[in-house]
Amino acid sequence: MSSRQTVLILDFGSQYTQLIARRIREQSVYSEIHPYNIGMERIRELAPAAIVLSGGPSSCIEEGAPTISAEIYELGVPVLGICYGAQLTAKLLGGKVEYSEKHEYGRAELAPLKSVDLFEGFEAGEGFEVWMSHGDRVHTLPDGFHLVGKSQNSPAAAFACERRQIYCVQFHPEVAHTPRGSEVVANFLFRIAKLEPTWSMASFVDEAVGTVRAQVGDEGRIICGLSGGVDSSVLASLLHKAIGDRLTCIFVDNGLLRAGEREYVEAVFRDHFHVDLRVIDAADRFLEKLHGETDPERKRKIIGVEFIRIFEEESGSIENAKWLAQGTLYPDVIESVSFKGPSAVIKSHHNVGGLPEDMDLELVEPLRELFKDEVRILGRELGVPEEMVKRQPFPGPGLAVRCLGDLHRTRLDTLREADKIVDDEIRAAGLYDDIWQSFGVLLPVKTVGVMGDQRTYAEVFAIRAVHSVDGMTADWVHLPYELLSKISTRVINEVRGINRVVYDITSKPPGTIEWE
Ligand code: XMP
Repeated sequence: MSSRQTVLILDFGSQYTQLIARRIREQSVYSEIHPYNIGMERIRELAPAAIVLSGGPSSCIEEGAPTISAEIYELGVPVLGICYGAQLTAKLLGGKVEYSEKHEYGRAELAPLKSVDLFEGFEAGEGFEVWMSHGDRVHTLPDGFHLVGKSQNSPAAAFACERRQIYCVQFHPEVAHTPRGSEVVANFLFRIAKLEPTWSMASFVDEAVGTVRAQVGDEGRIICGLSGGVDSSVLASLLHKAIGDRLTCIFVDNGLLRAGEREYVEAVFRDHFHVDLRVIDAADRFLEKLHGETDPERKRKIIGVEFIRIFEEESGSIENAKWLAQGTLYPDVIESVSFKGPSAVIKSHHNVGGLPEDMDLELVEPLRELFKDEVRILGRELGVPEEMVKRQPFPGPGLAVRCLGDLHRTRLDTLREADKIVDDEIRAAGLYDDIWQSFGVLLPVKTVGVMGDQRTYAEVFAIRAVHSVDGMTADWVHLPYELLSKISTRVINEVRGINRVVYDITSKPPGTIEWE
């Protein structure tokens, strides 16, 4: 992947660093985040076409604050310093940074002072809205630099040395609160660094296919666990494009899948993509192990262990299996290489989470450069059906964490049937794509009802629907009453074992999305 132009982002620990990468990629330019202390040798190796120095929580005038070699400014590569990156640049090149009495947090107005490439398209002297978040300020500019923008509390809110192509801004162009920030980023990329907007998912497919082929050579099979979710599906189709019939996918039917899930995965991968797909019928095995278990975490553990066993057994029986594909995404990679040190647990993809290290398979992770929504775009590029690309997340332990209490086969069937009604009706109402997750939960609570003059005594079904951006926080969805009414009527009329339907109106926090 060396032929593409890469913008190197050196991370000083800002909460916005990922957004810088996003804003650059949105301009069809590839960007990578690395910790600030990777060293000059590695920076030269990466051969960036431009460098961005991120913001960060430290004060560059404090002892031990994160720093870089001033050689960076001698590489002949355009540099954009943002917030901490701007202050550090001023300091390293001979300017003076000082603690400021007047902190600037939140919205501010930045007025470009003269027409420089960075502010092309903006009127000199006319303020535009920016987001500030800093305590220190630049007091004296380094030699050769001049002011190009000021705000009320920062006389040096933007400064530059045009001859050396070094631009520094105190505000954050990468955040949504700087509405015209993308224009500033685009000016840096295209006017100053003269980059070409050539990075696209189509070009990514070609590069990734080439990289996978180079990594796996001419022999050995790649094994890929499929869950039916977006990441593993896109991963499998990318691998299939790269190495065709040397790919074997494993899909474990654990008896905890939603209605039609197994058939759907088979239709897409076996019939549509013609992948060598092994569907392992393991429902009995899982349900036996889970028999009588009602504790949510123990359910998860049992399912995780059983999944690993089956995966090991199966991959052991695949001749010449050499590689294991994993759907690691960029946020996981950044988290693990951040200068703050690897986080305690690097998220493991739930499809293959916790596979033993002695499995003797080498890892292939072709999605490790992508953000989650880029995976969806990639999926479309690869011809993964739109329906699959847009699927709502589904937890690894499946219906086990939605069927509260004992995981009896009949209760799972009841839940499956009622959950399908929720899914069908939400789709029919045109709401599926706008909702993060919508599903049903079966409660081990019996209530009295009356149906056709008969007394009933059956279980309660809860409908759950949430809006969320990342699953970390969530709001319950204000589903139309008519829709709730329709789902309720259908569930009670059509599904045996349920005689009462309730709607969950708990947000996260304090609730969680899943009930267990
Ligand atoms: P909670 O219930 O913690 O869920 O609010 C947040 C997101 O994570 C999913 N989830 C899981 N995914 N294994 C998974 O692979 C699990 O054990 C698990 N538990 C929750 C949940 O569906 C939601 O998207």
